[in-house]
Amino acid sequence: MGVRRAPTVSMLRRALAQVQGDIRWQESLVPLTSLHVGGPADVLVIPADVEDVVRVVSGARMGRIPLTVLGGTNVIIRDKGIRGIVMQLQQFTTIHQEANQLVYAQAGVRLPRLMQFALSRKLSGMEWAAGIPGTVGGGVVMNAGTRLGEMQDVLQAVDLVTIRGIRKRVEASTISFTYRKTTLPRGIVVGAWVQLTSAAKGAIESVTKHYLQYRKATQPLTLPNAGSVFKNPTGDSAGRLIEAAGLKGWRIGDAEISTKHANFIVNKGAATAEQVLTLVRKVRETVARKFGVRLQLEWKVIGEK
Ligand code: EPU
Repeated sequence: MGVRRAPTVSMLRRALAQVQGDIRWQESLVPLTSLHVGGPADVLVIPADVEDVVRVVSGARMGRIPLTVLGGTNVIIRDKGIRGIVMQLQQFTTIHQEANQLVYAQAGVRLPRLMQFALSRKLSGMEWAAGIPGTVGGGVVMNAGTRLGEMQDVLQAVDLVTIRGIRKRVEASTISFTYRKTTLPRGIVVGAWVQLTSAAKGAIESVTKHYLQYRKATQPLTLPNAGSVFKNPTGDSAGRLIEAAGLKGWRIGDAEISTKHANFIVNKGAATAEQVLTLVRKVRETVARKFGVRLQLEWKVIGEK
């Protein structure tokens, strides 16, 4: 693909002319990411509803403008930010029970809120999501999960706006899921149906309580972080390898390999994406040299260097 010229303000205005939601020019994305690093979006759009998503997608497509959908928790935005349109579905926060054990959640719903909703209706299946900072949309795209379970275990169908701007229901049976990855048709996830099972409230609560205690004890949840940095290599754990390489507490500027869990990088104040990514490179090099293992990033890295 050839290099695309950065879109001009008038191109962006034209593409977004019909949009009803919030439009913010040159908006810093730092507060929208859980690690608190990154740069500005040329323009950030907070769509009001699904029709608005269709307008944004169609406008971007017609104007040949890059469109990035931002969840914000498993992503590192480089310091110069993102050209074109960035869309965040933070107004998409509705959850409802469609049938006995079938729940629909919009893409911007935080996973722990969906877990709480399920708990309040004595529905089991979302326990794995306790305390995970991500959203339903991000969780679907990356097949989020923990050792208790993952999105693919409960997902029944995805509510998607295709890149052609058409709303479509995609059955989970047509999607293939692997570790932190799905093969969704290209488009924007605006919601998801999850199929849960009935259970006693106490049983669900005891699982989530123990799990949250375990995470609080082993992960640096009180400092800005973006979840696990690397995927676990088959049969081993990234955290174990990084600790064994002697890297816990390594620091570049305000970016630090957590002293609590080596597969987390925390922001101790004003870390930059550059510092975080330099740390990532150093970890990969050191672990490869010492143990011959090539760690793969779980994070997605986007934006301009
Ligand atoms: N370990 C170390 N040193 C460390 C960290 C871990 O030796 O600094 C060892 C532990 O002692 C343990 C093993 O590594 O024997 C695994 O560690 P842990 O139980 O903390 O789990 P993990 O594999 O590091 C995974 C998920 C987490 C999830 C936890 C708990 C991945 C990459 N990470 O972590 O998910 O919260 O299990 O279910 O699969 C995320 O994906 O963002 C995330 C936080």
